[in-house]
Amino acid sequence: MTDAFLSLQRSIEKLVHIRCSQYKEDYIKRRILSRMRLTKQETYDDYHKYLFANPAEVEFLRNALTINVTKFFRDQEVYSLLRQDILPSLAAKKSSIRIWCAGCATGEEPYSYAILAHDLMMARKNVSITIYATDIDREAIRKAVDGVYDRRVLENVNERDLRKHFIARDDGKYEVRPHIRELIKFRHHDLMSGTPIIRFLDLVSCRNVTIYFTEKQKNDLARLFHSALLNDGYYVMGKTEYLGREVEHLFASYNSAQKVLIKR
Ligand SMILES: C[S@@+](CC[C@H](N)C(=O)[O-])C[C@H]1O[C@@H](n2cnc3c(N)ncnc32)[C@H](O)[C@@H]1O
Repeated sequence: MTDAFLSLQRSIEKLVHIRCSQYKEDYIKRRILSRMRLTKQETYDDYHKYLFANPAEVEFLRNALTINVTKFFRDQEVYSLLRQDILPSLAAKKSSIRIWCAGCATGEEPYSYAILAHDLMMARKNVSITIYATDIDREAIRKAVDGVYDRRVLENVNERDLRKHFIARDDGKYEVRPHIRELIKFRHHDLMSGTPIIRFLDLVSCRNVTIYFTEKQKNDLARLFHSALLNDGYYVMGKTEYLGREVEHLFASYNSAQKVLIKR
């Protein structure tokens, strides 16, 4: 590691509040190089100075570094709401439930839904739940299909669920068991394509995906989800995401703290 890169990493830790050591060096370098290209900075030193001189770049770099970042039961309160309220109330009304995890990265989000779905289906034998999980990143989808994870991304899974739904492998990783895997259909899909992967949906979960989208792209996406959802279907957003003015009328708030909307 060069001195210039090391010193840039130290500044990133302070300014961006991201622990670079949690990522592979190659990954950090690729993301920084892509920001260097976009900001026309030639060396790590140049970019380092640019980062200090341009406060907006801190946010751009944070987004670039966290583009695929995800974990099981990310934001646990949302999953409590799904477990205790939303999924049981859907199951009380119908026997076949369809969920779309849009922008699912490496699969931690749809597998979290699948764990909740499995428990619900055990309690209500007449209910079936299918989860469609998509991402634009083919490599991320490949990893999702593999369903093999480091302990680090499983910190929100309790020991009981870990034993029940994962196989502990000799290499220290955890593999999703088939009864969870078979609830999910993974597909490659671009959310900007203008067509949903599936219609007549009961719930769309699209979380922490739109950080790079323009206002128009965000609005088009909200319209796409609205058209793909059944009446009273749920739209679960990321904690820092919001609905644009132009499309506000399409959804009502169901739980504002957890950013859950309901189709009008
Ligand atoms: C930060 S991850 C979010 C993962 C998960 N939803 C979560 O909240 O933990 C963002 C994901 O959105 C995906 N993404 C970005 N633009 C997309 C697009 N146009 N269509 C589909 N997926 C997209 C990225 O490939 C990335 O895997």
